[in-house]
Order: sequence, then C-alpha cells, then structure tokens
Amino acid sequence: MKQIKINGGNILEGTIRISGAKNSAVALIPASILSDDVVSIDNVPNISDIDALNEILEFLGAEVTQKDGIMVIDPRKIENKEIPKEVSSKLRASYYFMSALLGKYKHVEMYFPGGCKIGARPIDQTLKGFRTLGATIKELDNKFTIDAEKLIGGHVYLDMPSVGATINTMLVAVKAEGLTIIENAAKEPEIVNVATFLNNMGAKIRGAGTSEIRIMGVENLHGCFTEVIPDRIETGTYIIAGALLGKNLKIENIIPEHVEALTLKLKEMGVNMDIYDDYIIVNKCDNLKPINIRTLGYPGFPTDLQQPITTLLTQCNGISILEETIYENRFQNVPYLNDMGANIEIAGKKIKIAGPTKLVGANVEATDLRAGACLVLAGLIAEGNTVITSIEHVLRGYENIIQKLTQVGAKISLEEI
Ligand code: EPU
Repeated sequence: MKQIKINGGNILEGTIRISGAKNSAVALIPASILSDDVVSIDNVPNISDIDALNEILEFLGAEVTQKDGIMVIDPRKIENKEIPKEVSSKLRASYYFMSALLGKYKHVEMYFPGGCKIGARPIDQTLKGFRTLGATIKELDNKFTIDAEKLIGGHVYLDMPSVGATINTMLVAVKAEGLTIIENAAKEPEIVNVATFLNNMGAKIRGAGTSEIRIMGVENLHGCFTEVIPDRIETGTYIIAGALLGKNLKIENIIPEHVEALTLKLKEMGVNMDIYDDYIIVNKCDNLKPINIRTLGYPGFPTDLQQPITTLLTQCNGISILEETIYENRFQNVPYLNDMGANIEIAGKKIKIAGPTKLVGANVEATDLRAGACLVLAGLIAEGNTVITSIEHVLRGYENIIQKLTQVGAKISLEEI
C-alpha cells in the first residue's frame, strides 16, 4: 500500500505540464478494438487506469506497445472472451469494452464495471442504448450476457446526459446498420475526442459535442492515429493549487475553453489569473470572495472538480454553498477537511463552507480519486505534515502527481507502507 506525505505551506512556482485526459484515454483504448487494423494513440497518460485497460486488451489478444506516451494497438488477433471480474471491476471504463465487443461481435459477456464509490452509478441508460439497437440482455449475479442477431440503428433518448451511455451507444452504433440518433447526449470534450477517433477510423459520426449525435453505421473501420486531449480535470486541479499557493505558476498544454466553468468561477472569487491560448498563469490570492457552485454536465461546473475546489472555498472570506447534483456520495472528503480545521456542514446534496479557516496537517484517507485530489490540495496549504492513505485512488487519475508538484516547490513524497 502507498501513502502520500506532504509538508505544507510551500509556494508553488514554475511550470506544470498537463497530461492526456484520463476520461478520454479510457474510452479511446477500448474503442480501438473496433478497428480492423493497427491504431496509434498519442498523449496517453501513465496512470493505473490505463494499466488496467492494457491488461484487458492483452487478455483479449491485442498486441500493445507503449513508448513516449504513444500507444500502438494491434487488435487483429483479438478474441471475444469473457473479461475476468477481478479486472473489469477495477474501473468504470471497463464497460467500454462491453459496447466495443458487442459492436464488433454482436455478443458479449461481462460483469458490472467498477469505479470510485461515489454513488449508485447504474448503467441502465447504456443498456437502453444496446436494446434500442436490437440487443437482448440477460443479467445474472451482476454478469451481463448481451446478444444481437443484427444491430440496427435506432433513436435513443437518454434520460440524463450520461457520458458513459453516450460513448457506449456510439461504440455500438458505428457498425450497426443504418442511422442511430442519440438525443440528450452528453457534451463533454472527451466524447468529441472519441467521436473524432472513430471518424478517423472511417466511422460517420456527426454532432458530437452537442446534445444530438447522429451516427450512420459503416461495415468496416480501418487503422488510424489520434491524440488524447489535455486532461481538463487535472488542469483544474492544478489551477486551484495555483490559486492557493502559486507564484506565477504556469499550467501549460491546456485547452482553456474546457475549463471555463472553473476559471469563470475563480474570477468571481477574485483569483489572479492570466489566460493564454494554451496555458494559464495563476497566483495565490488573499481576500477571496465566497461563491456558490452547482455541479452539472459539460459545459457546466464539473462534478470532478467539486471536491478539489472545496479546499479553495475553505480559504474564502465568508460562506460558500456547493451543490452536488451528479453523485449521491461525493462528500467523503468533507469529514477529513474538518479534521484538518475546515468548517463545513453537509446538508443533503449541499455543503456549506465557512471560511477562511487555517488548515493543519492530519492523517486522512483518499476515499476516491477526486477526494484524494482535494486532500492533496489541503495538505499543500496545511501547517505541518499531512499523511494521505489509500493513495492508489489518486494514482489512478493523476500522472506523476508527486514529480509535478515537487518540481514547482511542494514538499510531497510517496511512501510504501
Ligand atoms: N446515470 C444513470 N444511469 C446510467 C448512467 C448514468 O443514472 O445509465 C447517472 C449516474 O449515476 C450519475 C449521472 O447519471 O448520477 C452521470 O453519470 P455519467 O454516466 O455521466 O458518468 P460516467 O460516465 O460513469 C464519467 C467519468 C466520471 C465523471 C462523469 C461525469 C469516466 C470513466 N468517468 O463517468 O469521472 O464524474 O463522467 O462527468 O469517464 C472521475 O474522473 O473522477 C470520474 C468519476
């Protein structure tokens, strides 16, 4: 097991380079098996979620090589086998293999996916997409057996703009016969990244990034090259670090438009930032104004930055209200922040953060990925030492977090326990 130790209070100065987006890469890799030939994906982050997907690819018989962030996948010899439960339960994105295998072979057997324990996270909308395209689904003890004699395009209305259901439906629809329309689709940049990849393979997807996606099925998909977009959640996490401790901290290799929901809220708070084409310079600010935030699907404020920004809200002058509308259980970081000296009350879907409060180092646990990011930020500003256990969750999603923060002046280390 691993833990992170932080000695807080150090100014962050220099440059942090943002890696490829976890939530794009974890969909692009399963999507690659739809190709009839070799595909290359550049800017793949070196995180443990990618290792888990590699394990699945290799289990299925794909040949995978990785060098300098470029992953080359040869899916020509894959076989449609049942992915072992221990592997698919490691992460949510394993279910992109469910749709890719269904799209390719019209049959798949797979267990319910894993992922952070931040709420119920049902997959009913994904299954609705499969059914609309002609699949029949049997479920027994969390194992799904899905078959289709033929996959035929259909009109899918998502009850909520689910990222996973949008991508899963696209992955099945690209090789289905005729036209599929996804209504109320999620609009996240990661969806555009996946659609561009599939189109590079020869798919016919229009409208990704809007709430109506139209997919005309094709018979074959060929090899291609694509690049993972910069991780907007990693970007946001380090921008928040800069607002807490930055001295001209530069966050580079970013797409500013993808983090606008965050940067506009930070401006409301009075954060001192300069935004350029592909980087941001951010400085620590005193006298921050409190704000209210409600999480929403893109382009709204991302739920994945809700926990990280809570640390910043503990430093504002007054009361901020944060409402989490996506997940039922995404406040597990709050008791630990309170142990460190924060003053936060949970009331249903909302938390009330009274600031500013001085934070002091404590022993805390990363209950999930973004809770861990929140606690890393808290440790960076806290007086004394903070030890964060269950750090495996953080390493699932932040490439080289220790090196990136150390390089700009943080006192942070990873320890094996
Ligand atoms: N939902 C349903 N039924 C479904 C699908 C979703 O009720 O069939 C609900 C969920 O329970 C949730 C909401 O709809 O309340 C949104 O879920 P969505 O499907 O959009 O989320 P996801 O695809 O499971 C991805 C990211 C999450 C991120 C969300 C929202 C990946 C692998 N995960 O999850 O990332 O929070 O979109 O943007 O792409 C993270 O990176 O920390 C993380 C949790």
